[in-house]
Amino acid sequence: MCGIVGAVAQRNVVPILIEGLKRLEYRGYDSAGVAVIDKGRCIARTRSVGKVRELEARLDVGLAGGTGIAHTRWATHGRPATENAHPHICRKTVALVHNGIIENHEALRRAQMQLGYEFTSETDTEVIVHEIYRRLAETGDLLQAVRAALGSLRGAYALGVITNQEPDRLVAARRGSPLVIGIGIGEHFIASDVAALLPVTQRFMFLEEGDVADITREAVTIYNAEGEQVERPIKQSEMSADAVARGEYRHYMLKEIHEQPRAIADTLENRIGLHNVYEEAFGHTAAVIFAQIEAVQIVACGTSYHAGLVGRYWLEGLAGLPCAVEVASEFRYRKPRLAPNTLFVTLSQSGETADTLAALAYARQLGLAHTLSICNAPESSLVRASELVLMTQAGPEIGVASTKAFTTQLVALLLLVAVLGRHRGLGPAGEAQLVNLLRSLPTQIEQVLALDAAVQAWVPYFANKQHALFLGRGTQYPVAMEGALKLKEISYIHAEAYPAGELKHGPLALVDSDMPVVAVAPNNELLEKLHSNLQEVRARGGELFVFADGANGIREDAQTHVITVPPTDDLLAPIIYTVLLQLLAYHVAVSKGADIDQPRNLAKSVTVE
Ligand code: G6P
Repeated sequence: MCGIVGAVAQRNVVPILIEGLKRLEYRGYDSAGVAVIDKGRCIARTRSVGKVRELEARLDVGLAGGTGIAHTRWATHGRPATENAHPHICRKTVALVHNGIIENHEALRRAQMQLGYEFTSETDTEVIVHEIYRRLAETGDLLQAVRAALGSLRGAYALGVITNQEPDRLVAARRGSPLVIGIGIGEHFIASDVAALLPVTQRFMFLEEGDVADITREAVTIYNAEGEQVERPIKQSEMSADAVARGEYRHYMLKEIHEQPRAIADTLENRIGLHNVYEEAFGHTAAVIFAQIEAVQIVACGTSYHAGLVGRYWLEGLAGLPCAVEVASEFRYRKPRLAPNTLFVTLSQSGETADTLAALAYARQLGLAHTLSICNAPESSLVRASELVLMTQAGPEIGVASTKAFTTQLVALLLLVAVLGRHRGLGPAGEAQLVNLLRSLPTQIEQVLALDAAVQAWVPYFANKQHALFLGRGTQYPVAMEGALKLKEISYIHAEAYPAGELKHGPLALVDSDMPVVAVAPNNELLEKLHSNLQEVRARGGELFVFADGANGIREDAQTHVITVPPTDDLLAPIIYTVLLQLLAYHVAVSKGADIDQPRNLAKSVTVE
């Protein structure tokens, strides 16, 4: 999704802006641009379609300035094209970058055209820059102009604005899209997230909804939505600049798959004792709240939604609580009937997904008092808007296809199951068993990562296929969904997941030797039933690829390929088997030469609806 970087400094900020854009690449984008106020007090701009390195190649050697803004654009209004790329400029005077969507852009555009403003793009953004210019002409003050212009906008935005009339000033604003301010020494920065600025600072201020910031080299002054001057605390980031480096790995996704044992160990750290889960890990009021909870509603998007689906089996089966799971974009427009003592749980890697944030706000509106966010981004909007929080400690996830965020979400959900189950008869023995299993998880994941070569050997069976089917039962059904999502996201092979028992109600019609069928088959009480489902595939000439527990009796034959997975407890199986499906998707996509970390048309952090 669109990324913003900006800076006011004594030094030339172009290299800082370009490095910042590279660090935002993971968010997904299709074009990029940069604008600075140059020595002659003119706005100089370069834009290009494609990657940041293409923008870099186009930059004029002489492009330099102490105040500047830059942007990666993920097309919403208007196709990916140079003229639609940001920064947008009005009458050589105001330049602006924007992340979000302006809902009333058509009405504003019509009004501005009547006033004689010339439009050079198809974007919703361009109306903002004209609106600011119009107010600047009236007031001569960029801050006032931005504040006045914001009054006429409806929608979501994070903005960075500069003008050659006040070359040492940068004005930023946030409503509905993320924006942080980086605090340097005699220089200040803005960005869509902390990672973009780590090479220049580790000190950050996080803007609140409706804030407008007036930024110069010497000072940052923030005004809230009511126009009052406010203080926002400065926080020290614990992330280091190279926390997001790829190291020895060819792709971030592979690195992140291999980081899972560590990410899970970090997620467990300080959350579990010898035999129990620490309830306070969810917040100091957690014990009181959890004791009142009678149902759980989980809401999330994408991969995080799949984690929620696994969580439902656990919350109902182990914690004995009714649980519903829904994608945020559906939940927010429905009229759900929720019991008053429902715990509303949002799952999100980024904490900035617009639909998930809106669903949380909607849940509040519906009168739900208790909210918990399981999230990987400290200081994200979701974390700040939730009553209780459990951070997954996966570390920055850069690959668009989520891996370690998913498995750490599953771990976090098991911690939740333990504390909620405690109030509903899970019993100390049940909790102790769960804690023991969790403790063994990092080592178990190391063991399945060692099956990498066996997974790679399956690649030729998939690389030239158009479609694939993924089967699972019980908790392995959402795991199959996640495996199918991974494959389609990065290898562009159409992949669908089915609960194996539903095979006979439709997808069997598609099964033939051109459609590889992947099955996840741990050794659980549904195994016998899965066996029969796999038989149904074989009988139709389908080729099976089974990840199977050695003890479950699924044998290799002409139509059946088996990778034997070390035995594991049924509770941990969704996490263990997911790792294998991640590796399968990764290697198939690599063999197809796909852009693994930034698949076409997708964004890491979807900050617009
Ligand atoms: C995008 C990403 C997915 C992610 C989903 C939800 O689609 O590409 O990887 O699962 O958003 O994001 P969240 O940050 O809320 O987990």
